[in-house]
Amino acid sequence: MRTLVTILLLTLVCFLSYSSAAPLAPGISNRNGCCLKSTQMHIPKGKITDVAMTPSDCEQQAIVVSTVCNKKFCIDPNWIWAKNLLKEFEKSTANNSPPSAPFNVTRCTEKV
Ligand SMILES: *[C@@H]1O[C@H](CO)[C@@H](O)[C@H](O)[C@H]1NC(C)=O
Repeated sequence: MRTLVTILLLTLVCFLSYSSAAPLAPGISNRNGCCLKSTQMHIPKGKITDVAMTPSDCEQQAIVVSTVCNKKFCIDPNWIWAKNLLKEFEKSTANNSPPSAPFNVTRCTEKV
């Protein structure tokens, strides 16, 4: 009986941690470049290599931020920080120039 309870509890714990740590968290774009959800997360500008809106045919719009660690984060497109970031990045890369400072100036360390 005790074993059964333990197994049930373990199953529950696994289930809970699985659902909260969904594979796409914290909102990584899927293969269409779409986002399932977006978050408000500050990403250091020095680690940013790309900032773009999701394709217009995506159900959920987001600002996709790519980092020097080759990760993509789906950021809330209505968040003022992200909107300004997109503007600043577009300015930095006008005329197809590569992103210049303050963008893409740091190396990939852990996480982002
Ligand atoms: C970012 O900087 C690195 C190192 O300077 C460079 O190799 C890379 O091409 C840059 N990435 C982009 C998207 O410009």
